[in-house]
Amino acid sequence: MVEQPDGLGVGTVAGLLREHPPMDRELPGFDPAGAPAAPGPLFVRWLLGALTAEVPDAQVGALSTVDEDGLPDARMLVLRDVDADGAGWLFAADADSPKGRQLAATPAAAWTFYWPQLGRQVRIRGTVEAAAPELSAAEFLTRSPAARAAALGGPQSAPIGSLAAYDTELTTALARLADDPSLIAPGHTVYTLRATAVEFWQGDRARRHVRLRYDRPAPDAGWGSTLLRP
Ligand SMILES: Cc1cc2nc3c(=O)[nH]c(=O)nc-3n(C[C@H](O)[C@H](O)[C@H](O)COP(=O)(O)O)c2cc1C
Repeated sequence: MVEQPDGLGVGTVAGLLREHPPMDRELPGFDPAGAPAAPGPLFVRWLLGALTAEVPDAQVGALSTVDEDGLPDARMLVLRDVDADGAGWLFAADADSPKGRQLAATPAAAWTFYWPQLGRQVRIRGTVEAAAPELSAAEFLTRSPAARAAALGGPQSAPIGSLAAYDTELTTALARLADDPSLIAPGHTVYTLRATAVEFWQGDRARRHVRLRYDRPAPDAGWGSTLLRP
């Protein structure tokens, strides 16, 4: 339990953080010599390890995009599926949201996962492809009524007047869905991040971290891999 500090001057937080160093616990090992030739199967292996270790929200990572001014933007997104053979990572988002517009202008992203219980990070970089509208619509229909109602209200990240107004909007959307369960939010899109680089990072309490990066020059090329200095 961390004590609430009395003062918040410079140095207070730094002192607290030094008392709680990251990865100060037993962590699994990672032998790159046993790694597969491509990153997809290794990602699935690590993801299953995270789910087995009951890492909360193991399927959530920070997706980074580039905005119209060339500046980075990032937010957490749920991983929907992995195409292990094609090294594709799937997510779903509103094409009319800021990230959707950013991806339309610059179809490239980085997706970063961290599983603290295992001290494991995976960084995926590549190009982003939007699925055909029929596929996105089919994925939308797999969602809970609450999730579909939230998406039917309007573009994500648009300002709302108040939470009460939003609640009314949700109630209306739920009623529309009850009348017509086949409704699809217009911007709902499934995207695939097609990797050109994937780095696996295994943390170590004694700082002997292990980093293995897979690269391919283009999404249809073969993979090479390199050990990196931590
Ligand atoms: C754990 C978690 C999971 C999330 N999953 C998604 C998701 O799968 N899709 C999505 O559009 N937003 C998801 N969000 C919300 C996004 O982080 C973000 O707030 C939203 O997509 C708006 O981002 P934008 O304004 O950059 O477009 C999630 C947030 C959290 C904290």
